[in-house]
Order: sequence, then structure tokens, then C-alpha cells
Amino acid sequence: MAGKLEVYKCMVCGNIVEVLHAGDGPLLCCGRQMEQFVPKTAADEGKEKHVPVIEKVDGGIKIKVGSIAHPMEREHFIEWIEILADGNHYRRFLNPGDAPEAVFKIEAQAVAPREHCTVHGLWKGE
Ligand SMILES: [Fe+2]
Repeated sequence: MAGKLEVYKCMVCGNIVEVLHAGDGPLLCCGRQMEQFVPKTAADEGKEKHVPVIEKVDGGIKIKVGSIAHPMEREHFIEWIEILADGNHYRRFLNPGDAPEAVFKIEAQAVAPREHCTVHGLWKGE
């Protein structure tokens, strides 16, 4: 059973979905069960270039990926950066060549960032 905001990938066609409302059934694509992306953390290998870093900036919150900037190449880049902030969900999609960061023009107390690398999967920060 899937959970709200969990991310799943079809290992056949590459579809990636996020759950907005959890039902009882399995998530299937291309005739197979989709695989859950369990977010990696600061405890995992590759953390320096993947764990999102939160920075307060004038008028908002900047999320950088990671403490050493992640590459933004055609075959290997940060596809999106998202934050859960005081119960609201925000996402910025990125492209190769962009900086691996996003500014969200919001005021929030509790911020939980996540990002998706096209090669190394889903990562979360604190
Ligand atoms: Fe990566």
C-alpha cells in the first residue's frame, strides 16, 4: 500500500509518479509493480553532491543540491527540487545547464526538502 507523497518508478518505461492520495491497491505500470524510491539521506554514499541544503535568503528559502554542487549534465542532473513547508508542497523542475538550486518565495517554519537526481535517485534533507 502506497503512502501520501511517496515516489514510485516503473523500471520498464521510466514513469515516475508521486502519490497524492493513498489507496489500497498496488501501483502498476507496464504490467509490473512500480518500485518505491525510498529517499537517501546524509547517511548514504554520495551525500556531498545530493543531500539538499536549506538556506534562508531575502524573501524566501533557497535549496541547494548538495554541499558540493551537483553536476547538471544532459545524462545526469537534478530533475526537480521540492519542499514540504508548513504542510504545503512546492516543486521546481530543473534542466541540464541550470544551477542545482531553487528559491521558493515563501515564509515557513518547518521545511523538509527532497530532490531527484536522474542517476542517483531520490534524496532528502533535514
Ligand atoms: Fe547524481
